Amino acid sequence: MQKRRIVVTSALPYANGDIHIGHLVEYLQTDFWVRFQKMRGHECVYVCADDTHGTPIMIRARKDGITPEQLIEASYARHTKDFADFEIAFDNYYTTHSPENRDFCATIFKRLEKNNAIFYKDVPQLYCPHDKMFLPDRFVRGTCPSCGAADQYGDSCEKCGATYAPADMKDARCAVCGKATPEVRNSEHIFFNLELFRNYLPAWLEKHVAPDVANKLLEWFAPDVKLLPWDISRDAPYFGFEIPDHPGKFFYVWLDAPVGYMASLLNWCLKNDKKFDRWWNNPDAELYHFIGKDIVRFHCLFWPAMLHASDFKGPDQVFVHGFLTVNGEKMSKSRGTFINARTYLEHLDPAYLRYYYACKINNTTDDVDLNLDDFALRVNSDLVGKITNLASRGAQMLHKSLDGRLGEMDAKGRALLQEFLARAETIAGHYEARRFSQVPVEVCHLADAANEYFDAAQPWKTVKTDPETTRKTLTSILNLFRILAIYLQPVLPRYAEKVAKLFGDEPYTWDSLQTTLENRAIAPYEYLAVRVLPEQVVAMVEKSRVAPPADKQAIEKPAPPLKTEIDIAAFGDIDLRVARVEKAEPVEGSDKLIRLAIDLGPLGKRTIFSGIRASYPDPSALDGSLIVIVANLKPRKMRFGLSEGMVLSAGFDHDKLRVIAPVGGGNPGDPVS
Ligand code: 2FM
Ligand code: ZN
Repeated sequence: MQKRRIVVTSALPYANGDIHIGHLVEYLQTDFWVRFQKMRGHECVYVCADDTHGTPIMIRARKDGITPEQLIEASYARHTKDFADFEIAFDNYYTTHSPENRDFCATIFKRLEKNNAIFYKDVPQLYCPHDKMFLPDRFVRGTCPSCGAADQYGDSCEKCGATYAPADMKDARCAVCGKATPEVRNSEHIFFNLELFRNYLPAWLEKHVAPDVANKLLEWFAPDVKLLPWDISRDAPYFGFEIPDHPGKFFYVWLDAPVGYMASLLNWCLKNDKKFDRWWNNPDAELYHFIGKDIVRFHCLFWPAMLHASDFKGPDQVFVHGFLTVNGEKMSKSRGTFINARTYLEHLDPAYLRYYYACKINNTTDDVDLNLDDFALRVNSDLVGKITNLASRGAQMLHKSLDGRLGEMDAKGRALLQEFLARAETIAGHYEARRFSQVPVEVCHLADAANEYFDAAQPWKTVKTDPETTRKTLTSILNLFRILAIYLQPVLPRYAEKVAKLFGDEPYTWDSLQTTLENRAIAPYEYLAVRVLPEQVVAMVEKSRVAPPADKQAIEKPAPPLKTEIDIAAFGDIDLRVARVEKAEPVEGSDKLIRLAIDLGPLGKRTIFSGIRASYPDPSALDGSLIVIVANLKPRKMRFGLSEGMVLSAGFDHDKLRVIAPVGGGNPGDPVS
């Protein structure tokens, strides 16, 4: 087999937050893939880093009374410990605050400038005279210009979903100091001219991302709409890299973050005496990014365009995955399902989550659901009951009654072994194509066959009457189990390491499948996996539960004051109609909004943006539903397009809203009274 040279990355986690089980969907699947490639004998390097720059990190450090450098150092220690304890084996885990990253950013920027992909433009932005800094939208709070809700972010309203410019807010104030009223000031910003890549990018997308992801991004390339330039500079004070020859201007964190992939790889090359150009810029080397679907715009538009314009090789594929839901809902602090990696580790074995995620993750952008009951069930019945039991029963009996020595396999055992080995390339194909969920399916199928063989041979009976036949049975069972452990090694590395120790094997490679173990002693049996107890899961959830802040506790929340009284005629002016949702989908770049294509029957079709994403993490659940809308609301121009109406919904909290449906049905366009 041709030896491949492969560089793999996962998205860089921000240095101002802890790793949680949502992040792990990505790091674990990348780790499965990388470990598989290594087992197959390829040269595969997995690099990552902490994403350390930007305003939130600077402000957070200031609030904690430490320097940003101290903050990112502490975060680095926590992240690397969490990753190591989850058995995630980076070849290099670095930081974006590194000399290598600074140099690459400078080189790329100079090349972009030379190739005329950069321009300069004045931008009006809110500025806090107290903190003497420009404020990102998220650092402005005020009253929503659309619905009047107080204390909203500067870019969008959590209550009504409207998006706006911070300058349009009533009573805007700076969220850094909490007091000053920001003022509008002009500042020159540096832009990357994305429009220059209008022809390059669609062709690139076709080759380097999955068709569904490419198709979504291609929506940005409407012939009459220019691609928006990308603002890559931020004004001082900013924690990041100052832009060469532009004093007081810093690279926006999203520029230097992906460059951090290159910097981490270069750092690995320097430590291992390798040449960067043989790994990154080599057409014979492969480069893959694993990312979540929230950051495709950065990785599949800006990043390939930027690399192309600066004469660096782009990724061969960007592998995009979905979000994590827990028990079918968004992770939630109040429900205790926003679980930090460390909290998980304090309660449960990392192997369980690795195994469960392997059961659930595949190569699509569908969300991955961690159902906590199903989690315990699969671990207990499959990993422990079906797979591990083969080893624990087989090895313990061999030690107890047969001096811990393997004999030879019997004919049935040999036949089964051939059946097991016949699945090797299918399983390898699943790993290669990231159909991880198929691997446990295959393995459990084989484990069922091995258990049937074990039960039919009844070694617990024959051991008293016919020890040598029993030795054959146990030799077969343990060889069969060993094959399963090899198949699972990318998912369960520590487990496979213990299995190798049991059999006196070297760490497994895919070639280890070729050997059989006969006529030799095995080591004493060490526990490989024990059952999950429901109370451990409950304790983990309880530990993760955070009471919602007082203003979110519905029971204690004072009812908002009534708005001005209206008469029946004013109410009658609101034209409510039944509509059918043709398609409901997330809005790229907004975690609040969903876009609904609706059918109003004889009144035609419309698009409505609604701020109910928190309640509908998978908006397609609404496809085909009948809903009620305000049909005569003046269309509103939003950042993502025109919204032609309002969807009525009601609920206890903003993440528990349900759209209002016409009871008893109706037809699109019907009036509701
Ligand atoms: O979204 C995030 O969490 C970013 N920190 C990911 C950066 S990935 C890469 F571009 F660096
Ligand atoms: Zn301020």
